[in-house]
Amino acid sequence: MENNKIIVCNHKMNLTGKEMETYLSVINTQNFSKDLVICPTNIYVPYFLKKSYSVGLQNIYYGAKGAFTGEVSPVQAKSMGITYVIVGHSERRTNFDETNDLINKKVISALDSGLKVILCIGEAMHKKKNEKIIKEEMFSCLKNVKDLANVMIAYEPLWAIGTSLTPTNDEIFKTTTFIKDFIHKEFNYEGIKVLYGGSVSDTNIEELNKITNIDGFLIGGASLNTEKLLKITKVVFTR
Ligand code: PGA
Repeated sequence: MENNKIIVCNHKMNLTGKEMETYLSVINTQNFSKDLVICPTNIYVPYFLKKSYSVGLQNIYYGAKGAFTGEVSPVQAKSMGITYVIVGHSERRTNFDETNDLINKKVISALDSGLKVILCIGEAMHKKKNEKIIKEEMFSCLKNVKDLANVMIAYEPLWAIGTSLTPTNDEIFKTTTFIKDFIHKEFNYEGIKVLYGGSVSDTNIEELNKITNIDGFLIGGASLNTEKLLKITKVVFTR
């Protein structure tokens, strides 16, 4: 049950302790590969470690340690066996005022500590001309980043997150091509992995999985439901 695609599950601030136990009782019966990345709410992370799948954080701070109440550092994450971190999610940008500049610091610090980075980018409105926005995000967030082999880009149009709306396959294909070409041209790195995120579900995964140039999916809401998640992993990992 393995191919090269990646599925990242972003639980956000969901599940109670009891619900998390029920969730684990289902997914821990499965033999996944490390290409499934689960990003639980921070306090639940230890329950997800050392299983068949990988674990990621939903956010990180850029400092190594010290007086930063409430934050988690990349060094701490790495020391616990965490592999991935999501950086620059639109909810962090919108609700916590994260700028491209701050995100850039987080990306560099996470990579320096040996974490793999899932960098989220995406345009705010359903515009055909989204290139300008995502170009600026990539330029700023990846400034001085050398280690692109450990970076994945998650293309998430903001208008598609949690709305049941998605771009067409053709639109996603075009944007993914644009991202890959841009990284190749501007950062001299070929083969960056690009995930699509925004309202991916068990009902549209068959269709979205037909897009030939994406490397996987970043999934929010649907990843909280084990039945939906198992359906999605079956489609993505077996074809
Ligand atoms: P969604 O969220 O799948 O619920 O749209 C995706 C995300 O925010 O990463």
